[in-house]
Amino acid sequence: MKTVTTLNGLRQAVDELRSDGETLALVPTMGALHEGHLTLVREASKHADHVAASIFVNPRQFGENEDLDAYPRQLARDEELLAAEGVALVWAPTPEAMYPDGYATNISVAGVSDGLCGDDRPGHFDGVSTVVCKLFNQVRPNMAFFGEKDWQQLAVIRRMSRDLDLTMPSVDAIHGVPTVREADGLAMSSRNAYLSQEQRAAAANIPVAMAEAREAIRKGSEVAPTLAALQAHLLQAGFEKIDYAELRDADSIGLLDANNGNARLFVAARIGATRLIDNIAV
Ligand code: PAF
Repeated sequence: MKTVTTLNGLRQAVDELRSDGETLALVPTMGALHEGHLTLVREASKHADHVAASIFVNPRQFGENEDLDAYPRQLARDEELLAAEGVALVWAPTPEAMYPDGYATNISVAGVSDGLCGDDRPGHFDGVSTVVCKLFNQVRPNMAFFGEKDWQQLAVIRRMSRDLDLTMPSVDAIHGVPTVREADGLAMSSRNAYLSQEQRAAAANIPVAMAEAREAIRKGSEVAPTLAALQAHLLQAGFEKIDYAELRDADSIGLLDANNGNARLFVAARIGATRLIDNIAV
């Protein structure tokens, strides 16, 4: 496995990997890898001859009061994990290589970026869209893999790829991989590492409360009181603030007040300084 940190090094390494017409899958990450990321890599390996992973803590997707400085950085450990999964190439640019002096371009995807995390984290999806567009152009993969845990992010990336003709060769080349969960159902996230033992125990209520709400909606309960009960459950369990608990269309991310047959339940909740998100199909 080769790690490259410059664009020239990347171009050369990608050309070598693809010299015999072999296919390349990209798994974009911000590092601090866990089983969820490794599942993306394993899925990518099933579809392509070679897998490249990017590791870049993207400053443009963090808000002013967010955890950019505290975000875990552990390149050596991440490299070991990726090498053990057979990854061929790691693209680990510095912030200066990604955004050189004078950098001025922003990609903003309207509609799907609105609501949910788009409202709670202004500018977040512009940062994601911009860096993912750059990663696609830099690595020029045949396909890319993203976790469904960040469902809205996946919807934004698919919309951007369609709109900017980035699809490689079709939007189906952007694969969403189901959320990997801990034994008690909590969605895996790099942010779980911030939780104290007590907070971690409380966090397990997210998947429980969401499954209860899904059952209620499936059985015909009204959406608004069901979501109010979900929020009450989480507050009772020790969460301090629920950023959102909403039913939305899986593709347009439009808000729903009833199940339209393509609905997902989305939750973001804060415990201590940590904000956790999850989503499930209804
Ligand atoms: O999901 C992430 O880890 C990031 O948002 C991504 C897609 C790597 C872009 O920085």
